[in-house]
Amino acid sequence: MALDQYYLLGKSGLRVSRLALGTMNFGTAGFHAAYGKTRDEARPILRAYLDAGGNFVDTADFYTAGQSEIIIGDLLAEAGVRDRVVLTTKFTNTLDPSDPNAGGNGRKHMIKAVEDSLRRLRTDYIDLFLLHIWDRMTPAEEVVRTFDDLVRAGKIRYAGLSDVPSWYAARAQTYAEAHNLTPMIGLQLPYSLVAREIELEYVSLARNLGMGITGFGPVAGGLLSGKYRPSENGLSGDGRLIDSPGYRPVGEREWQIIAAVEKVADGLGRSMAQVAINWVATRPGVAAALIGASGATQVTSNIGALDFEIPADARALLDEASAPAVPGPYALFQPAAQAQFVGRNVGDKPTGYSPPLWVS
Ligand SMILES: NC(=O)c1ccc[n+]([C@@H]2O[C@H](COP(=O)([O-])OP(=O)(O)OC[C@H]3O[C@@H](n4cnc5c(N)ncnc54)[C@H](OP(=O)(O)O)[C@@H]3O)[C@@H](O)[C@H]2O)c1
Repeated sequence: MALDQYYLLGKSGLRVSRLALGTMNFGTAGFHAAYGKTRDEARPILRAYLDAGGNFVDTADFYTAGQSEIIIGDLLAEAGVRDRVVLTTKFTNTLDPSDPNAGGNGRKHMIKAVEDSLRRLRTDYIDLFLLHIWDRMTPAEEVVRTFDDLVRAGKIRYAGLSDVPSWYAARAQTYAEAHNLTPMIGLQLPYSLVAREIELEYVSLARNLGMGITGFGPVAGGLLSGKYRPSENGLSGDGRLIDSPGYRPVGEREWQIIAAVEKVADGLGRSMAQVAINWVATRPGVAAALIGASGATQVTSNIGALDFEIPADARALLDEASAPAVPGPYALFQPAAQAQFVGRNVGDKPTGYSPPLWVS
């Protein structure tokens, strides 16, 4: 695999690199300002990704209070590569809490958000437009209808969802299918060795309903790169997590996973970040791992994650060290329980038998 080998995103004809570049740290204002980069610092990061053949660039209207989109728009125009890039942006989050319709997923805000993003990105179409976060209010039908209108109006090419409950994604996709409306081809969700919660619902959802998962934060914001050590405050080291340690709590389980990644990386002669990214990019249902970087050398080094395979024994070590707890009814869906209660072991298939997609 390499960045210039492209993969279909969900059930669509859109081809994307197996690593997407995240740009929430492009810009120095707003929520991500603590570790934000200026335009001049962002330029080599994007350049390193594009030069290696990467075509999947992710931003959001909310990142650095709009600066991320502005910088991306400028840098893509400067490089003359707008049309080669699958430009992804997202709407939902508000920059004006005093106005109830300046955020959320209602039709009024969705349309305003597209117009604002197009202006900041200096383009007349968005390749992939994502709902950023479920707002607990807007019916899925309203979002799907508006996505469809935006495709027909030529403002966006494809639609997708980010942090939504699985039932909501299933409702939206089923409604779109039933009414011949624009389908959602991508699901952007947190996924890494320390964050495997999506495996309970979203992987089978995505595979069944034609959505490719873009797993964001594969290095867990740097935690899995090996540069952090345990300390009295939970974490010591040099990286953005020191400024925002609440990003993900770090406890015994995380240190156990970090030790497993280190062991595998040493055995393979690879960096820990490469192992962590490779693991995400090669998991079932994953179309692309969505990486971030604070400098161009991190991009270049992390792209090496696509150059090798994690052997079965090393993969088993990583899987076991990071195995998530299986709560409530999900325990009944595991192979051992299925064998006991349903009377078959789904892991024990006859040779040559190719099960339907929804059987895992
Ligand atoms: N949809 C959503 O809700 C959502 C939420 C979060 C993110 N995202 C998207 O996902 C993208 C990636 O998120 P992320 O930045 O958290 O991903 P990540 O790849 O897990 O973390 C990236 C950070 O880890 C550190 N790092 C990466 N490679 C390294 C290496 N080789 N050696 C040492 N440190 C390394 C760098 O920070 P330092 O150098 O500062 O340590 C870098 O900025 C975002 O830009 C955004 O587009 C989406």
